[in-house]
Amino acid sequence: MIRTNRELSTPRAALFGACDAQALDNPVRSGHHPRLFRVKGILLDAPDLTVVVPTFNERENVPLLIERLSNVLAGIAWEAIFVDDDSPDGTAAAVREASRRDPRVRCLQRIGRRGLSTACIEGILASSSPYVAVIDADLQHDEALLPRMFQTLREEPYDIVVGSRYVSGGGVGEWDASRQRASAFATRLSRLITKAEIADPMSGFFMLKRPVFEGAVRKLSAQGFKILLDILASSETPPRLKELPYDFRVRQFGESKLDMMVAWEFAMLLADKLIGHIVPVRFALFALIGGFGVFIHMGVLWTALQVIGLSFLAAQTTATITAMTVNFFLNNVFTYADRRLKGWRALRGLVSFYVICSLGAAANIGIAAYLFNQQEVWWVAGIAGIVVGSVWNYAVSSIFTWKSR
Ligand code: GDD
Ligand code: MN
Repeated sequence: MIRTNRELSTPRAALFGACDAQALDNPVRSGHHPRLFRVKGILLDAPDLTVVVPTFNERENVPLLIERLSNVLAGIAWEAIFVDDDSPDGTAAAVREASRRDPRVRCLQRIGRRGLSTACIEGILASSSPYVAVIDADLQHDEALLPRMFQTLREEPYDIVVGSRYVSGGGVGEWDASRQRASAFATRLSRLITKAEIADPMSGFFMLKRPVFEGAVRKLSAQGFKILLDILASSETPPRLKELPYDFRVRQFGESKLDMMVAWEFAMLLADKLIGHIVPVRFALFALIGGFGVFIHMGVLWTALQVIGLSFLAAQTTATITAMTVNFFLNNVFTYADRRLKGWRALRGLVSFYVICSLGAAANIGIAAYLFNQQEVWWVAGIAGIVVGSVWNYAVSSIFTWKSR
């Protein structure tokens, strides 16, 4: 399809006549204007603004959002990158269909992946504009704010502009009291990890200058939903930040993906920012659950010996198997919430966990006995055995039991 000049969105494009007939097949920078490209007879402007849109099951919202973006962003050279996690409702196909009509729209489809934060990160990495915005696909964020965000970043000394529900003029629309309380609580908690003066650190609607993102990208936790908070907590120097009010709208199509899992991932993001530089959060959880397993073990051992009256060997065996089983399920729910095994996979995982932990126990006893023979300080030998055993259990089960698919 050949686009005529009239269809081009940018004023710069209007400087040129309709595309000439000797259109070139290879992209060539226009001699008249260094930022315009001629591709197969189409004049294209390299975008100044990339709008990244994470999607999961948002098919019906895609054309609506694109139409609204084209309207509000007229006059700005923009592009939109939808990052879709292989939505079963066919969102990616809807984006590609739109993209055939409007090449400013692109689809980045990820297969076998989930995660709002990682989707935003990869969308931003796939772009090269100096300004990048993130907006939800479900029309709950007010896209009419985008031109002001863009203008603010270009003309005022700010690095990030945030669409805020919690500054005067903004609001949470029709949220019920419990969601309002949860949001207020999460906002207070987030202060633990960011010193930035910000009323709405949980916002998922913002625009930033590329270098701000590049300065933080390697330190991001990339856990869960809160990409803005992650960027704020990962930046070396606090970004200069401005909040613009908007009213969080009600979702018309599709449903929210906010659930217990998102709340848990938020806790993991906080934990990673607080202790992640000392010990990986996953290992800390694994060790904590392992410690809890010792109590389970002793409880079952006591019951089996004192209440049921089993032999010591039988009681100890029962206690060991019970503790390993409880540990497996706790780790499956919490430590590996993002790779949770279900059905047959869970059973297979449990068996592999038994085998790995048995070898871990053997390593534990072997190391401890060796050290005790060497220097006879019982507690040093004991702790060394535990450390080696748990590191073994953690490392090997992360590879074999909960391998990332
Ligand atoms: N690619 C991808 N992968 N996208 C996802 C995923 C995922 O796993 N989960 C959710 N999304 C997309 C949704 O399709 C939607 O476009 C956007 O991320 C937000 O998801 P919702 O489920 O609608 O979240 P919400 O309405 O509860 O919360 C949103 O608004 C808050 C207020 O601004 C989020 O954006 C929050 O981050 C934000 O704070
Ligand atoms: Mn939403």
